[in-house]
Amino acid sequence: MVPPPLAAREAVREQRFSDVWTNELNDAFADIAPYYDRGNQIAALGLWGSFLRRFMRSVDLQPKQKVLDVCGGTNAIGIALLKREPTLDVHAMDRSAAMQTVGQQRAAALGFNIKSTIGDVHKLPFPDNHFDVVTLQFASRHLRVREVFSEILRVLKPGGHFHHSDMLRPQNAIVKTLYYTYLKACLNFTSFIVGSSPAATKFKQYFIDALELFYTAEEMSIVLRELGYVDVTVDTVFYGMLGFHRAVKPAKA
Ligand SMILES: C[S@@+](CC[C@H](N)C(=O)[O-])C[C@H]1O[C@@H](n2cnc3c(N)ncnc32)[C@H](O)[C@@H]1O
Repeated sequence: MVPPPLAAREAVREQRFSDVWTNELNDAFADIAPYYDRGNQIAALGLWGSFLRRFMRSVDLQPKQKVLDVCGGTNAIGIALLKREPTLDVHAMDRSAAMQTVGQQRAAALGFNIKSTIGDVHKLPFPDNHFDVVTLQFASRHLRVREVFSEILRVLKPGGHFHHSDMLRPQNAIVKTLYYTYLKACLNFTSFIVGSSPAATKFKQYFIDALELFYTAEEMSIVLRELGYVDVTVDTVFYGMLGFHRAVKPAKA
């Protein structure tokens, strides 16, 4: 599939996926929540931890900063941030109460406090200029990216940093074909091993389709700049299959 040009991409993603995003995804994540972390380890061939460490190394942190993890899921990011800097004030927001319940249990077991907000991240219920750092990992394919990234820009303090990590659409056609073949096999294998429910299994094709219409690393950088972020940089892995973006809210003039 050749994705539509960048200017039309969000409208096409919206038209194609808005029903799944609005009506179906939350039930799928409720089913996935108990085995989400185990499933990720299997799907990433044990590399999940190394991806997380690489992402965390790119995050700039100072003691006592206020951090928001958007689409926090089972709090993998919040916990990793607190392990690195225990004085942080960490907030997580996610629409799935089931994912956040697992995340709260994981954080509590380690003695960490992560303030949880359940809701749709297309409207962030926080004041303007509020957070020093905002993170978002492995969820943007399910979101109206421009809306959420604009909200993140609003709640960041001037000079604050946005760190984004996700699977991206590779630029190279051969890499892309190999990647999708691997992903299909991997999703089948993982759902067999962890015993996915029929509701979650149904989403395997959606996960591939959503990636097909997603952004390459370069396109994601362009979107961030168009929305008003500055100093946008990206570090890619495996020929652009995975990207770690860093973007800054301009300091006040
Ligand atoms: C693949 S998980 C990623 C979780 C976590 N960031 C991680 O890296 O493990 C995607 C998460 O995005 C959340 N999500 C998807 N759409 C959302 C929305 N519109 N508002 C809030 N959360 C959403 C899901 O509930 C799920 O927890």
